[in-house]
Amino acid sequence: MSEMTVLVTRMIPEIGVRILQKAGFRVRMNPQARQYREGELADAVKDVDAVICQLTDPVRRRVLEAAVPRCKVIATCAIGFDNIDLQAANELGIVVTNTPGVLTNATADLTWALMLATARRLGEAERFVRAGAWRGWGMLQFLGADVHARTLGIIGAGRIGTAVARRAAGFDMPILYHSRSDKPEMTKLGAKRVPLPELLGQSDFISLHVPLTDNTRYLLNADAFQQIRRGAILINTARGAIVDHAEMIEALRSGRLAAAGLDVYDGEPAIPKELLELDNVVALPHIGSATVSTRNRMAEMAAENVVSVLHGKPPINPIPPD
Ligand code: DGY
Repeated sequence: MSEMTVLVTRMIPEIGVRILQKAGFRVRMNPQARQYREGELADAVKDVDAVICQLTDPVRRRVLEAAVPRCKVIATCAIGFDNIDLQAANELGIVVTNTPGVLTNATADLTWALMLATARRLGEAERFVRAGAWRGWGMLQFLGADVHARTLGIIGAGRIGTAVARRAAGFDMPILYHSRSDKPEMTKLGAKRVPLPELLGQSDFISLHVPLTDNTRYLLNADAFQQIRRGAILINTARGAIVDHAEMIEALRSGRLAAAGLDVYDGEPAIPKELLELDNVVALPHIGSATVSTRNRMAEMAAENVVSVLHGKPPINPIPPD
């Protein structure tokens, strides 16, 4: 049998590459320091048996059609897969896999970092110190909001939403959640399932943990922003397009939102300049899962999925799950 080739669309931790090589596959790495554009990706997938891609790769129908009949599996190094046309993959017989579970804690930790950073104005305070503006302790300097004992509203009670709720216990926070079904683990944590308008109207912190789908795109639209409790803090470590950015900017300017902690943006890496001009925004460059151990594990999982499928075995983490 001739050597099989795996395309890696952008640098991944070495451990993933070693797994592929150990399994006897030739690894073809995107030679550029940037991601492929859609046309380039369609060219690159033409003669490979598998692809390890990332959440920024446009794996659209055109790309998938170019990949068949040779390509058997697309393994994304992410939990989110809104960049992949699953229906086309399914029709064309290409297996798609992701990396669930391993980034839960890293993402929940970052969510917490954003809650603390926004409530306690860490971005502003740090910029102040670095600008050499600090002249000494002041009773009225950088007064922020409490985190402990405030109400946390979690939208989406999957793995990450639940891990965020677990952390809230240490801060004595009442928890509300919105989800399609009751979640026993959330109930055990004392969280109460409520309709979305109720969650928006009663939460001091609103944290988003739903995947981006046709149902969740712009879930926080103009109507939703009208329902948000005045002075709430919005945290988004999920996907930017869940939030209408123009409405969010307006809410941040008017005080409807006291602050926003954002790791993701609609149309990223572009970020509206109006957002970055606001001092009550803490803006991060999509680093929810960016710890060494988590990114290693994500690369490992993607590679293990490729090995499994190319060795004629079932994928370990198929989307949608079995
Ligand atoms: C994912 O995996 O979908 C995150 O957004 C990046 O870690």
